[in-house]
Amino acid sequence: MGSASRPVGRATYEAAPNIALVKYWGVRDPKLALPYNSSLSVTLDRMRTRTTVTFDPDQVDDTLELNGKLAAEPARRSVSELLDRIRARAGIASRAQVVSSNNFPTASGLASSASGFAALAGAGAAAAGLRLRPRELSQLARYGSGSACRSIFGGFVEWRAGSRPDGRDCYAAPLFGPDHWPALRDLVVLLADAPEKQVRSAVAMQASVRTSPAFAQRQSEVPSRIAAIRRAIRDRDAGALLPLIMEECDSFRNVCETTRPSLDYLTATSRAVLAEVLRINAGAGRPVAGYTHDAGAHVHVFLLARDAASVRRRLARIRGVRSTLLLRPGPGGRAIGRAV
Ligand code: PMV
Repeated sequence: MGSASRPVGRATYEAAPNIALVKYWGVRDPKLALPYNSSLSVTLDRMRTRTTVTFDPDQVDDTLELNGKLAAEPARRSVSELLDRIRARAGIASRAQVVSSNNFPTASGLASSASGFAALAGAGAAAAGLRLRPRELSQLARYGSGSACRSIFGGFVEWRAGSRPDGRDCYAAPLFGPDHWPALRDLVVLLADAPEKQVRSAVAMQASVRTSPAFAQRQSEVPSRIAAIRRAIRDRDAGALLPLIMEECDSFRNVCETTRPSLDYLTATSRAVLAEVLRINAGAGRPVAGYTHDAGAHVHVFLLARDAASVRRRLARIRGVRSTLLLRPGPGGRAIGRAV
């Protein structure tokens, strides 16, 4: 806990998006932001959100500038809510200027909320004079957006749901570093027809908890799937990993589609990409590639570096595919500097 005498100032923090191989979807305690199930993700290289927080005693309210523009109300309010937690913990009252920029499209299914809230937690905590350990930072970030707790760490990360009602055993932790599996790649397939997200994931997933008849079955499957995926990553076994991540993605999509009203994040182009991945694998007689997607239309295709060029050519030919990005697992969040 902090005190009013703590120095207050400015800090910058940078964090990357992550893509979940086992999805977080459903909150068991909204007040403490505790998920029903554990999840597992890969933090991505090259894409970054950089955020500077300045606590300023002369400021009347928090302001948010996102990619050079003053942000609209729902985004500003969720930033303010995370800052309120930081202020309460640090014992300060000053409002803040938040300046944030992404080097990739916002709200496009590329998990800008994960990198955004991880960067906000890192910058806000440091600017308020709080010295949080990475685990505590991850616990703070999840209040902004659940998946943000995983973006504090690099490489392969597990967010443990825990079982305690007070949430003390709920946190993200690194499993394997970004260099653990040098041959693994994430081919991100960006679509020309990807719509902007209509309903925030935090709201959509609670509709799934309430209405999807597939939700309970999925909960019973997730622990063994996490264990199998963790083993496949540990052994650098693409033949095991790629089918498992598709099975998990299909289970997540089934929960979304059976939610009332139905949640359909894919476009015709996304579906064509998934079908082409299955054709590539059938043609090769082995798992060459494995698809996954979040609550958005873009598709992430995991594969080994040696297969990347041929798969990329096949997927880039699909009508509606705008571009592809070939990414590796990347580093976790980092402080850029702090001035009081
Ligand atoms: O962190 P949120 O509230 O944006 O929800 C993320 C949900 C998924 O991206 C679909 C799954 C995940 O684990 O990242």
